[in-house]
Amino acid sequence: MSLLGFTKSIHKWVSVAVGLQVIVWIGTGGYFALVDHHVAGGNASKTSVNHQGVKTKPLIPWMNLTEQSAESVKLLWILEQPYYQVIHTKPEHRYQKHYVQLFDAYSGELFVLTEPFVKKIANRSYTGTANVIAVSLVKPPVRELPREENAVWKVSFDDPSHTNVYIDKNSGRVISHIDDDRRLRDLMFRLHFMDYGNSGSFNHWLIVSAAGLTLALSVTGGVWLIFLFKSGLLRVPLAKSRKHLSVRHLPSGTTSDLALPKADTILNGLVEAGVFLQSRCGGGGTCGTCKFKSSKNLPQTTADQDLLSPEQLNRGYRLACQHFVSGIEQIEIDAPQEVQTYELTTVETKFITPFIKEIKFTAAGGKRIPYRAGAYMSFIIPGGTNFIRPKDLPQHYERYWQQVPSGTFTHQGGVRHYSLATYDSLDNKLIFNVRWQLHESAAGLGSSYLGALNVGDKVIASGPFSDFFASENEVVRRVLIGAGSGLAPLRAIIWEQVELGSDRHETWLIQGARNEDELAYSEEFETLSEEMGNFFYLPTLSSPSCNWKGKQGYVQQVILGQIKHWLNGEVTEFYLCGPSKMMIEVENILINSGVPSELIFKDDFSSGR
Ligand code: FES
Repeated sequence: MSLLGFTKSIHKWVSVAVGLQVIVWIGTGGYFALVDHHVAGGNASKTSVNHQGVKTKPLIPWMNLTEQSAESVKLLWILEQPYYQVIHTKPEHRYQKHYVQLFDAYSGELFVLTEPFVKKIANRSYTGTANVIAVSLVKPPVRELPREENAVWKVSFDDPSHTNVYIDKNSGRVISHIDDDRRLRDLMFRLHFMDYGNSGSFNHWLIVSAAGLTLALSVTGGVWLIFLFKSGLLRVPLAKSRKHLSVRHLPSGTTSDLALPKADTILNGLVEAGVFLQSRCGGGGTCGTCKFKSSKNLPQTTADQDLLSPEQLNRGYRLACQHFVSGIEQIEIDAPQEVQTYELTTVETKFITPFIKEIKFTAAGGKRIPYRAGAYMSFIIPGGTNFIRPKDLPQHYERYWQQVPSGTFTHQGGVRHYSLATYDSLDNKLIFNVRWQLHESAAGLGSSYLGALNVGDKVIASGPFSDFFASENEVVRRVLIGAGSGLAPLRAIIWEQVELGSDRHETWLIQGARNEDELAYSEEFETLSEEMGNFFYLPTLSSPSCNWKGKQGYVQQVILGQIKHWLNGEVTEFYLCGPSKMMIEVENILINSGVPSELIFKDDFSSGR
């Protein structure tokens, strides 16, 4: 694990521990702010006791006492009787261990507080009407007086607050009244000062550890911030202040001067200026398509290093979704100054699986938009408030959505990319598959916006862009592997091959899904495979019903079972589109089986949609 990864991990877990204690601090702090401290201190039925009496005869001189080793001697009145209190050891605090004796000041006899005495003192300090139900001498540790190190008398009253009166065995002093209010206060105290061991103070190892953890939180947070700053990833909100950027467009070589928001990424800033870089993952930092070349030597982010070659990095290429406008002067991009932008009208919208909506659009005036099978378009998602779950969910899909909360979430908008599920020679409708993305308290920007469209609603989209398409090679077998809404560009390619004629070589489709409901377009593909001798359809379910007769498991297993056949003689191309985990595993299988990488075509849509 790298230093940064280790730092992040420490920061995360320390945050959890400190965060929980912060919640406790807030709760208990609120209690202390609101509570009546007189009552919470157990004083509701407590009054002070005056023991002072009058001398009825002369006191014997204290020097006559047999004990000679005293540190000090004090005259005390207990229940109006005089006593000498001989203190042999006197600690700093009264609760600490001490050695004290009492002597009757008239007779000089050693005196020990007895149960009737103690009961009388307790009754005098108690203003309630309840009776004493128990009297006992308690040796330390005393649960309700955690700091007390000396034996004390405990007198219990039969009242609703379960009051216990504690009395010092050596002086008759009332130490404390402990009732239910006081017990609650003591509990809050323990929680607030993290005194989970009931030591009676905040000077203990747990609070020292908490201080250490908080220090670790600050240090790791600081290290993380420094890393983000050095990587150029620290995004400081700079209002909407803009910066002029000189942009050279390839391959034309034209240059434009664009004023982009400083606080945005290069990718989003360019979109705002109407310039669309390829960005298959929508800015997620996973596809590596949003390359730009900077005149300055920029820091390299982890995504830059993972997705660009060392040679590209040395030549100044970086990913536009990973760097902010603020640190950049001049860039070179492989994108025209302007792309075609369309206003599209929704003509049909329906769920085709529990989580995927098929949405059909037409361009203004029914205009036909040219594009290749496998192309995608970039939709402008305006900022606003979207629903977390759809409003028009068919009844038979409700069971898949039981855990998803209703409600809305607010966002600032963005750009999202969706592949066309058909191609232009079929008709003038643009068909997209939108998979409703779900997060804990929100949904995907694009999916919740497009998924909520009604017939007649209009959207703005640019493109179509083509970076995933079937090769021109006519003498080749094509194996298409996909899952979820990754079926969209594969469906387009299949129909393109069908249109091109039945003399084409084999086309295979391996479609992965959890169950029958989640197999988009399966009936269409079944019919096609029955009618076309050169189309083979292998739907594969990981959790099918008991009626399922097809392949069971994951597409990876099907590929492992078929790969020998595909690699036997004929040139075979592989087209992959689906969740990134599936794509990575499939690609690894293909490479390990000897498929050259130039025969593997990927449409990465792993995030951002
Ligand atoms: S890596 Fe930047 S858009 Fe995909």
